[in-house]
Order: sequence, then structure tokens, then C-alpha cells
Amino acid sequence: MLTELPRPVIFAHRGASAHAPENTLASFELALAQGADAVELDAKLSADGEVVVFHDTTLDRTTDGTGRLAQKTLAELRSLDAGSFFSEKFRGEKIPLLSEVFEAVGKRLFINVELTNYSTPRDQLVEKVCELVKKHALEDRVIFSSFLASNLKKAQRILPQVPRALLALGGWVGAWARSFGFAFGDYAALHPYFADVTAQQVNRVHKLKRRIHVWTVNKAEDIVRLHSWNVDGIFTDDPQLALRAMGRRT
Ligand code: G3P
Ligand code: MG
Repeated sequence: MLTELPRPVIFAHRGASAHAPENTLASFELALAQGADAVELDAKLSADGEVVVFHDTTLDRTTDGTGRLAQKTLAELRSLDAGSFFSEKFRGEKIPLLSEVFEAVGKRLFINVELTNYSTPRDQLVEKVCELVKKHALEDRVIFSSFLASNLKKAQRILPQVPRALLALGGWVGAWARSFGFAFGDYAALHPYFADVTAQQVNRVHKLKRRIHVWTVNKAEDIVRLHSWNVDGIFTDDPQLALRAMGRRT
């Protein structure tokens, strides 16, 4: 259960993505080796309806492919290299299926599944992710998050026992989500951009008896400050650095 983890929970953002290619099995295994409590990943559907783990809408930045992920079949996606953009050492890493990540680390790490069908919001992503959570019996090891409240409502209908977190964009565009959107929705946690967070904001969330997990924090001084404000979780690309900054690792 999320509430049983040490606070702040250290979520390795897209895995230990400062040291391995983001959203690959290598980055999730490394997060575990570095002592992270949890990983964050981005779930999307391939053109043939398989749940894959990938951040961008297009393939160009992190693979040797081009074009939109949603227009490629799983077979096409699996033929791509998702490691060498980061370093030659990781050539051969593939875009993982969500089920592979669940199998690899699901019993050892808590998993924040971000529902990222932002360009295809009417697809079957939420239904399919929920099915996989059930199949792998990970209901008490997963938290769903999304910038789209409709995704979280759908997840609540299908798997009410899995906690949900509302993501808020940085700056003024995220102001409504951080205040009314969060307060009037049925969410276990708020996931704001760290630079928008104040000690008062942390207290407001705690008064609602809910949690605040902040993204994405990669500097020791920011981690120390947010820890002193009692945030409940920190997303970082570098779990090793975060744990050292808080004195949980040497
Ligand atoms: O979940 C925190 C963070 O991952 C949200 O933004 O773009 O990195 O998925 P993004
Ligand atoms: Mg994400």
C-alpha cells in the first residue's frame, strides 16, 4: 500500500532516467538497484491496442523510428531501438509492454502508471491498463495518475480500490487543477510541478487528509527543501541522488 511506504516516497521518474534510457526495463531495474521505493511510467496504446510504456507522442526523440506511436503496431514498435539515443551501452533496449514492467518489478516496487492518452483520449487505454493491473494482482501496488480527470473517473469506475492522483501542469495553466479540480475530485493525491509548491500548499493538501507528490526534482537542494515541507512523495530522474540528499543512503 502507498500509505505504508517511507515518506517521502521516492518515485524514479520514467525509471532511473538520469542513468539509463527512460521508460525501459533497464531504467526500471536500475531504479530498484538504486533503492527507489517506486517508479513512474507513461502508458499508451499501440495502433493494435497493446499497452506500451513510452513518454512522447512521437518516436523521434528516444528511438531510431519516426512518426506517431499511436499509428504503429506493437510489432513495428518492438523492432525499434529505445536505448541507443541515451548511450551505445543501452543499444538493444526495447519499448516495453506494461505487462513486462509489471512482471519485472511489480512485486518489488510501487508503480505510478500515468495514463497518457492525451492525444487519443477516447481510446481504450484505461480499460486495458485496469485489466492488466487485475491480471497481475497489483491493485495494492499501483497508483494511477493523469492530467485528464476523465481518465481517472473511468479508472475509479473500473478499479475503485486503486488510488488516483491528479496531475497539474506547471504555472497558471495548472492553477485550477491544483485548487478546485483537486479539492472537489475524488483523489488520493495531488501531483503538481515542484516549482509551484509552497509549504502552505502542502499543508492545504494535508488538511484534506490527502497526499502531495511533486515532479520532477533533480537537485539536492530542492529535494531537501521539499522534504522539510513534508511532501509525501518526490519524482526524480535520479533516485540515488534523492536518497543521498535525504540521508537515506550513503
Ligand atoms: O508524473 C509526473 C510527470 O511524469 C508528469 O509529466 O511529462 O514527465 O509525464 P511527464
Ligand atoms: Mg509521466
